[in-house]
Amino acid sequence: MDTFSDTVHYVFLASAVCFVLGLHLMNHPRTARRGNTLSAGAMAVAIAATVGLVIHEATITTTGWLVLASGGLIGAALGLYAARGVKMTDMPQLVSVFNAVGGGAAALIAVDDLLQAGHPAALGARVSLPGALDIVIGAVTFAGSLIAAGKLQGVVSGAPVVFPGARLLNVLLPVSFVAGTVWLVLAPDSRPALYGLAAVALLFGVTMVLPIGGADMPVVIALLNAFTGSAVAMAGFVLDETALIIAGMLVSASGGILTKLMADAMNRSVTNIVIGGFGTGDSTPTPGADGAPAQVRSLSADDVAVQLAYARKVVFVPGYGLAAAQAQHELGALAKLLTDHGIDVSYAVHPVAGRMPGHMNVLLAEADVPYTQLREMDDINPEFPQADVALVIGANDVTNPMARRPGNAISGMPILDVDKAKSVVVIKRSMGHGYAGVDNELYTDPKTGMFFTDAKKGLSELKAAVGEFVG
Ligand code: TAP
Repeated sequence: MDTFSDTVHYVFLASAVCFVLGLHLMNHPRTARRGNTLSAGAMAVAIAATVGLVIHEATITTTGWLVLASGGLIGAALGLYAARGVKMTDMPQLVSVFNAVGGGAAALIAVDDLLQAGHPAALGARVSLPGALDIVIGAVTFAGSLIAAGKLQGVVSGAPVVFPGARLLNVLLPVSFVAGTVWLVLAPDSRPALYGLAAVALLFGVTMVLPIGGADMPVVIALLNAFTGSAVAMAGFVLDETALIIAGMLVSASGGILTKLMADAMNRSVTNIVIGGFGTGDSTPTPGADGAPAQVRSLSADDVAVQLAYARKVVFVPGYGLAAAQAQHELGALAKLLTDHGIDVSYAVHPVAGRMPGHMNVLLAEADVPYTQLREMDDINPEFPQADVALVIGANDVTNPMARRPGNAISGMPILDVDKAKSVVVIKRSMGHGYAGVDNELYTDPKTGMFFTDAKKGLSELKAAVGEFVG
């Protein structure tokens, strides 16, 4: 290696340090933006250094340059357009599509490398083994992420899609990965091994994600994100690219940790999610005392405003519907009005409320909600019995008491003990289901009143009505 190549490798090392620092800064909403900028900047520097190395080593043809430049420009333009235009609530789908693109690109690198190596002797196991792993992980990620995005977008059914023999297939396909990988390592120029392995991995991506229910989809996306990282790291081994190996391993490790944290927050194991088919089971709500379906009680804005204005302690419970309606500012304004009137206000934030980890915290921070009023589930749950009013805004599954009973779709998922408050008000548009697709027993609890409206509109009306009482 000459001095230029040495310098480029020091640049890669410095970039890697910046990636780690960037991840660290993302620990807090206040420093998260800086963390993102630092990591993105470091990646831009690493890409520039790689291009510099390619120029220095003069290993690329004119056609190669054209492909590189047009790929970079088209990819950057599409990425920028998608990221700028996406609604906050559609972010999980976008992350999923980005995972698909990352995994697919990594797999194609290995396919290209194996196709270009004319004779087996050119490829030792040092390249063919990571190449085979890259194809498997990348193709699974590509197909699985597209199905996950389809489920979130409503293009593919959000309910678990199970067909006869699905579980057996999901055991047999990974076994065939081992056979295909051994075949490809022993005969790196074998086209049937290469195409067969890629096809089986694509099929597994589909059959792995189809049976997983909507409530688990964010965990699956985090898992596929970790897979993308592993595929990229394998591509780094194939190309002997340090920056790809380091960046890929960091994505893989952080995605893996996030997957575990989210699965823990839902009280399930990752294996249970991938193999268990969450979202199945008896999800019939408990009937009323006389065996008839329990009734719901509708409230008007004035009914709710009276309760809020005369309460001493109010707990807000934000969920996905708040994010969908972009109603965080209206909620913040209502909370401020109540706080100014001497009412004790807090926000109960469930770890998986919304569609992304930290989703609620980010939204509420946008509305300048004081951090001291944000309370985590374990911290706020013992206080619900003292709350005069628990006001649920577009949250559903994370408040469903059915989770406390075994044998249904959300059994075991930790919930906010909203039903223990003295009075409960739920703002949502209809009796529609949440992500998990089950009825919520909270809505038929006699102390619950439903304020059927869009979250943004409802909170504005409430603020005006409360203003009349306390003004
Ligand atoms: P959900 O259970 O999905 O319920 C959201 C509710 O919001 C819906 O029932 C919907 O009812 C209502 N809604 C939608 N748009 C609205 C609008 N404009 N105004 C008012 N209400 C609106 O949400 P959640 O309680 O936040 O639960 C999160 C779900 O995600 C859980 O199933 C959880 O397991 C899953 N999950 C999340 C994560 C992370 S990290 N966030 C991780 C794993 C799993 P209407 O249609 O009737 O209005």
